[in-house]
Amino acid sequence: MRNFNETTITDAVLERIKDAGDPRIKQVSEALVRHLHAFVREIRPTQKEWEFGIDFLTRTGHMCDDKRQEFILLSDTLGVSMLVDAINHPVPEGATETTVLGPFFVQAAPEKDSGADISGPMEGDPMLVTGSVSTVDGKPLVGAIVDVWHSDDDGYYDVQQLDQIGDLAMRARFHTDANGKFHFWSIKPAAYPVPHDGPVGEMLEAQGRHPWRPAHVHFMISAPGFEQLVTHVFVAGDQYLDSDVVFGVKDSLIREFARHPAGRAPDGRMVDTEYFHLNYDFGLKQVASNARAA
Ligand code: BEZ
Ligand code: FE
Repeated sequence: MRNFNETTITDAVLERIKDAGDPRIKQVSEALVRHLHAFVREIRPTQKEWEFGIDFLTRTGHMCDDKRQEFILLSDTLGVSMLVDAINHPVPEGATETTVLGPFFVQAAPEKDSGADISGPMEGDPMLVTGSVSTVDGKPLVGAIVDVWHSDDDGYYDVQQLDQIGDLAMRARFHTDANGKFHFWSIKPAAYPVPHDGPVGEMLEAQGRHPWRPAHVHFMISAPGFEQLVTHVFVAGDQYLDSDVVFGVKDSLIREFARHPAGRAPDGRMVDTEYFHLNYDFGLKQVASNARAA
């Protein structure tokens, strides 16, 4: 087969991959070719535009290393990460909704006892976070692992300023107590722009978009027999809730970070300035095989 033209080339490529041994590889390859060719037919790029596209992807790849993942950022800002998340995480009644992981999770966060202050050397408005972890029908999950991480009041994570602060802060791993509860102190996070000094930033600007995420606290919660929950809780009233650059906001994940005057906090601690209190009760769904057995 030869002499392909605009109308025959797609079928020719599909014919060439029809014998792929693995049915999933065949399905994915065929869909990729069909959609990619349809995209090119729709936009009818000039040769120069096509070269620009290849150069954009090349620069995106060159920007990636062990600290920066520009391809994930591209997926995030094009809404693909949230689409994959939505496909993979249907949420039954009582389960907490999911959202993107983001690039600032650290595997080996320091383990802390409930009640710890995890702000380290960071200054800002004190924030008390209280919460619980339960099954979808409200049974407390004891000993669940609760990873938390968030930005400072200028919108920077610890890993973005390790040179200045010397150690991890505003992140920790807790375990829920005998009632499925945990709590900790930190500082209230601020909204921040995603890294926008690379190809993704260029794309956002060209598309007339801002790079901001509304203020939030990240949670990753696991317990044996339950699906790992990756989510955030967003600060109610944030100006970017309706225009999050990575499309991660869901109404069920927005909470008031309630302002309280100085005094005794709900955990008994005396606080000499005003502070903010976030409470969130998380629901975990059983992994499918366990759910069937239950
Ligand atoms: C974050 O919330 O940490 C985040 C998520 C997606 C892209 C960049 C940052
Ligand atoms: Fe974040």
